[in-house]
Amino acid sequence: MISSMDKLMHQVTRKPRVVPAAGAGLVPVPGAVAPGAGPLHDQYRRPLRDLRISITDRCNFRCTYCMPREIFGPDHAFLPRSSLLTFDEITRFARIAVDQGVQKIRLTGGEPLLRKDIETLVAQLAALRTPEGKPIDLTLTTNGTLLGIKARALHEAGLKRVTVSLDALDNDIFTRMSDSKVQVKTILDSIDQAAKAGLAPVKVNMVVRKGVNEDQILPMARYFRGTGHVLRFIEFMDVGDTNGWNFSEVVTGAEIIERLSAEFPLEPVQAEYRGEVAKGWRYTDGQGEIGIITSVTQPFCGDCTRLRLSPEGQLFLCLFASQGYDVRELLRNGSSDQQVLDHLAAVWGQRNDRYSEQRGQLSGSRKKIEMSYIGG
Ligand code: GTP
Ligand code: 5AD
Ligand code: SF4
Ligand code: SF4
Repeated sequence: MISSMDKLMHQVTRKPRVVPAAGAGLVPVPGAVAPGAGPLHDQYRRPLRDLRISITDRCNFRCTYCMPREIFGPDHAFLPRSSLLTFDEITRFARIAVDQGVQKIRLTGGEPLLRKDIETLVAQLAALRTPEGKPIDLTLTTNGTLLGIKARALHEAGLKRVTVSLDALDNDIFTRMSDSKVQVKTILDSIDQAAKAGLAPVKVNMVVRKGVNEDQILPMARYFRGTGHVLRFIEFMDVGDTNGWNFSEVVTGAEIIERLSAEFPLEPVQAEYRGEVAKGWRYTDGQGEIGIITSVTQPFCGDCTRLRLSPEGQLFLCLFASQGYDVRELLRNGSSDQQVLDHLAAVWGQRNDRYSEQRGQLSGSRKKIEMSYIGG
């Protein structure tokens, strides 16, 4: 239960602290990194490889673990349109990051398909090339409500693949968790439409919350086995400050594998690349693969190569960060690409975040950004 004091505190402190582009604690060294000189490395020698771009803080769901309606209600102040990065600003920043070694871009939100003309942004990003001349791995995370009608246009614009969030097959559990009237069938149809449009294999993300949807683990596995889609089970995480997270609500990855194995024998799959978020498992009878995302019980910070860009142009170095680094000012004040690169290099170069490995040691009063603002 969220008290009115919590609500007030949240509204007052909702915004994370922002370090301006040219200030406080950051000393960009002009020209220190030459464009195309190769990947930027942080304090733990982790290269910058992935860029996750949140393009809106709005969503048409109110998942209880992400945007509880008590806080994200009718009077919640979402970002005004003028403060959002434009498609050209996003593309310019992405191009500078890709020139420096970013290979994968994920569009996220909120619900990214709510952003008008998203196909235009997809087309702009799909045209980017790495210094070796390769296209980037361009993907998107969506709740699936609008995917059915947009899948074809997104694929035509150059989207390669898509990840859909779906927490239950049972309609009552699904509508309760998403706090919406959208039916499970709509999302399942969207997944089919996406596959038909050429966005297969579709990844399906299921957040598992103890006592809420854990009895959906097996039905979801039965449904997606043999379809070619990859179901991934996510341990419920303490992102943001509003979902009232408690470890007792986490069903661990080990427990999920144990439950699945009782019905379907599984074997681990070799990781495809360093820094993979989901650990892969395959059904031994050849009916496909699943993934387990164990940010709580087996953190993967050691290989975290992900930079996050917020809808209003702030860089976040961790999903659990409490501070962002503004880049919008540089994108709007006539700064050169080299100046933007200098800033990016300074921000990434001093990165030492590894929240999931330090969980428990950090102060509980530390403010964190919301998932609906920065994306998954
Ligand atoms: P692909 O390999 O491109 O399919 O992406 P992915 O495996 O990284 O998956 P995705 O981006 O869909 O992430 C799945 C979920 O894992 C997210 O929705 C988050 O819940 C969680 N996640 C992703 N990245 C991070 C991260 O850097 N830290 C933590 N703690 N969780 C993450
Ligand atoms: N714990 C784990 N996963 C979460 N997601 C949102 N909030 C949480 C949380 N607290 C997932 C969504 C979606 C992706 C963007 O992140 O279900 O799949
Ligand atoms: Fe929306 Fe995704 Fe958050 Fe649910 S988890 S409220 S679908 S942004
Ligand atoms: Fe990366 Fe932070 Fe997630 Fe660790 S907790 S994997 S550093 S985003």
